[in-house]
Amino acid sequence: MPNDKINQILAEIAAAKATTPDELEAYRMRFISKKSVVGELFVLMRDVPNEEKREFGQLVNGVKQAAEEKFQALIQALESNTKKTKTSGLDLTLPPGNLPVGGIHPLTATRQRIIEIFERIGFNLSEGPEIEDDWHNFTALNFPENHPAREMQDTFFIEKKPDVALRTHTSSVQVRVMEREKPPIRTLSPGRVFRNEAISARAHCIFHQVEGLYVDENVSFADLKQTLYHFAKEMFGKDTRVRFRPSFFPFTEPSAEIDISCLICGGKGCSICKGSGWVEIGGSGMVDPNVLENCGIDSVKYTGFAFGMGIERIAMLKYQINDLRLFTENDIRFLQQFRPLL
Ligand code: PHE
Repeated sequence: MPNDKINQILAEIAAAKATTPDELEAYRMRFISKKSVVGELFVLMRDVPNEEKREFGQLVNGVKQAAEEKFQALIQALESNTKKTKTSGLDLTLPPGNLPVGGIHPLTATRQRIIEIFERIGFNLSEGPEIEDDWHNFTALNFPENHPAREMQDTFFIEKKPDVALRTHTSSVQVRVMEREKPPIRTLSPGRVFRNEAISARAHCIFHQVEGLYVDENVSFADLKQTLYHFAKEMFGKDTRVRFRPSFFPFTEPSAEIDISCLICGGKGCSICKGSGWVEIGGSGMVDPNVLENCGIDSVKYTGFAFGMGIERIAMLKYQINDLRLFTENDIRFLQQFRPLL
């Protein structure tokens, strides 16, 4: 009688199926758990005469093993089944998951902010070509021919065309605007410029400038100073101080370099400002009358001021970035820091 029961259980195990977790659990209850039919066989063992115990025990253990092997097989079959339905069951009606949010490149953000500040005080925007001729990049700007000042700018000349170069500054755009328009002119020209310099933490052969030009009757150096004071306070905060240092540019007279009080140490002196408390942000000056005349503007009636600043330099100060190369390496760890906070 017990042998019949064993055969029946073995047949049941062999035929068992589990296509859902509930069916798997039902199998476990029936064949694996303590109170299962296999468990009952162990209880039956007590009533088996001693001389048959050994043989019966072996049979019961065989049943136990078969039940467990089948259980593992059922688990595996169920798992691979659910995986299959998961990947093939594509539900196009589901809402998408969270999409990664991009950010604005720090140079773009800085450029935008500079434009915004100057647009509010009446400057418009102008652009010009990156491949320039000698006239717009140098001659109209009062660089005498063969003058070393042309070398000062480390120009990339186009081979076999000595008259054509990659622009070394966006002052060339201002020449184009003055040739085209009549005063009053108030224009801002942001753009990419090129200089033949070795790439380091502080210099690059491609960088960005923004230049401003104001030409009208009675424009004075006081207007230039006030405009740049306004810009520095808007850009870097109201406690920022501005200093003008006498300098030279062929296209402005008088000329001055623009410094702002160091943002890192507040002017006390640190490694960024090399202990001086000041950092340079650009050049400026009153447009040289020769330049106005070169562009067809009456230099007796009109005067003007111009300034030029490096966008990288301003972004470095604003975001406290210590290596210019980070802007162009596209290291995601750097760029991710400029993602908008959500
Ligand atoms: N064009 C100058 C430069 O690139 C900067 C500048 C602009 C200086 C306007 C004075 C006036 O170095």
